[in-house]
Amino acid sequence: MASVGIFVGSSGGVTQEAAEALHELFEGSELINMEEDFDGIEQFDDFDVLLIGSSTWGQGDFQRDWVDPLFEMQNDEPDMSGKKVAFFGAGDQESHPEEFVSALGKMKDIFAKLGANTAFGAWPVDGYTFKYSFAQRDGKFCGLPIDDINQEDLTQERIEKWAAQVKAEMGL
Ligand SMILES: Cc1cc2nc3c(=O)[nH]c(=O)nc-3n(C[C@H](O)[C@H](O)[C@H](O)COP(=O)(O)O)c2cc1C
Repeated sequence: MASVGIFVGSSGGVTQEAAEALHELFEGSELINMEEDFDGIEQFDDFDVLLIGSSTWGQGDFQRDWVDPLFEMQNDEPDMSGKKVAFFGAGDQESHPEEFVSALGKMKDIFAKLGANTAFGAWPVDGYTFKYSFAQRDGKFCGLPIDDINQEDLTQERIEKWAAQVKAEMGL
């Protein structure tokens, strides 16, 4: 069976909660909090499947615990070919409609450039209201946006649906 690692950076706990829900839904998965459990980019080697979670901060930036690892990845260029990767993370479409969950797009580009297969977990933009997102690709988000601030009632349902979709797409 494929090994699944859920790597999450979260400052306020929203993306962390999503990661914990995914951890339950992906049986046998391992949950790695980027602040507390991350040992270095070699840790990605332990898994066939990576679920990468980050909230968006600043002007479309990834969460602070991802800054150094992603910088190191771009520098060291580890080979990610053969890995299946999907992205999720929290944002706020009302207060930050100009860069809504843009971190997901930035992370996708970094992993894809290193050879990972990132063609999983694309999510419809319907049901969200925003001006721009760097995570929007070909009319869809390149991962799962969670907006607990404005649409908390939809969060659990979105996570469950997305998990089922990703499992089916990855053949898990
Ligand atoms: C200073 C600041 C900047 C933010 N920038 C963005 C942004 O550019 N895009 C976005 O979608 N959300 C933005 N947010 C909203 C956060 O992503 C949102 O609060 C999210 O729920 C945090 O998730 P976390 O608890 O997992 O860290 C920002 C929030 C703050 C306080």
